[in-house]
Amino acid sequence: MLVLGLETSCDETAAAVLKDGDTLLSNIINDQNDIHSEYGGIVPELAGRSHNERVHRVIKEAVAEAGVQLRDIDLIAVTIGPGLIGSLLVGLNTAKGLSYGLKTPMIGVNHLEGHLLAIFLQKKIEFPFIALVVSGGHTDLYRVSDFGKYKLLGRTRDDAAGESFDKVGKMLGLPYPGGPAIEKLARKGNAKAHKFPRAYLEKASLDFSFSGLKTSVRTFLQQREQGSPITLTDEDISACFQNAVLDVLVDKIISACKKEKLTRIVVTGGVASNSALRLAVQKEAQVWGFEASFPDPIFCTDNAAMIACAGYHKFSQDQSSSTDFMVLDAKAGLSVE
Ligand code: KG4
Ligand code: ZN
Repeated sequence: MLVLGLETSCDETAAAVLKDGDTLLSNIINDQNDIHSEYGGIVPELAGRSHNERVHRVIKEAVAEAGVQLRDIDLIAVTIGPGLIGSLLVGLNTAKGLSYGLKTPMIGVNHLEGHLLAIFLQKKIEFPFIALVVSGGHTDLYRVSDFGKYKLLGRTRDDAAGESFDKVGKMLGLPYPGGPAIEKLARKGNAKAHKFPRAYLEKASLDFSFSGLKTSVRTFLQQREQGSPITLTDEDISACFQNAVLDVLVDKIISACKKEKLTRIVVTGGVASNSALRLAVQKEAQVWGFEASFPDPIFCTDNAAMIACAGYHKFSQDQSSSTDFMVLDAKAGLSVE
C-alpha cells in the first residue's frame, strides 16, 4: 500500500511516499527558513503563500524520488491541524484536488499524531508508552495506549520549549530557528556558569512553563549590556539556558512514567533533535530502568513521512476513517485526544 503524506501546517512544505507503513520511499522537506529568518519568527501570511508556490514541486519530487506515479498512490494523508490556518489550507486543498482527480481516498491527520507516531517509521514500540511532543508549538506529555488513543497528561501553560529556544535565539541575534543555533553555541559554553530558573510548578504537576526562563535570560542580557560585571559569553548563556530547559523536560518525563507506571518513553518533535536532550533523557531513563526512544532528527522536525505513517495506521485500523474530501476541513486548534 502506497501512502502519499503531505505536511504544510507551519513553515515546512513536505511530501513523502511510504510503502506498507514502514518502507519510506521518499521524504522531501522544503523549509522556509530563508523567508522567515529576517523576521526572527514565522510570518503566517508569508508561510501560506510560500507553501502555495512550493507544494506542487515538492509533491512531484516526492513521487519521482519514490520511483512511482501519482496514479499508483493508494491513500493521500494530509495534515489538517493544529497549525497556521492559511498554511494548513494549502496542503488540504492540494490533497483534495489530487483525491478528486485521481479518485484516491484521502485521510486527515492531526499533526501531533504525526509526531507521536514518527518513531514507527523506524521501529515498533510496544504500547502503552509515555510520549513528550516538544516542538515550536507544543510541549505536551501524553500517555499513548494504542494507535489513536492519546491521553494528555501535561502541557505548557505559556511558551512551548521550542518557542523559548527561538526567542532566546532572537535575543542573542542568532538566525531562525533558534534551537539548532543555540545547541551549537551551547557545545562551546559552560553550562555551570549561571543557574537560570527552572519552573517545576506545583508538586506532581506535569505541566510546563518556559516564559519565566525566557524573561530571566532577557534581564540577564540587558544587565550585561548595561555594563554589569557579567563575564558570561553567548556560548555560556546558551549552555545555561539549554540546561534549564532540559532539566525540566527530563524531570517531567520521569515523573510521568512513575505516575502512569510505564517504562517506555518516546521523545519527539523538533526540539527532540537536540542531542543534549537525547543524551539527558537517555541517561536518566537508564537510572530508573526505563527505555527511551527518539525518532531520527529528520523525523523529529516537521516532515510528511510521519503524516503518511499516522495516516497509514489510522486507515489500517479503520478503512472508513478515509473521508469524503467535501467534508474534510482544517482546524488551527485541532486536539489529538
Ligand atoms: O516540530 P517542529 O519542526 O515544528 C513544530 O511543529 O513546531 O519544531 C520546530 C522547533 C523550533 O522551535 C526549533 O527551534 C526547535 O524545534 N528545534 C530545536 C532543535 N532543532 C529544532 N530546538 C533545540 N535544539 C535543536 N537542535
Ligand atoms: Zn511539528
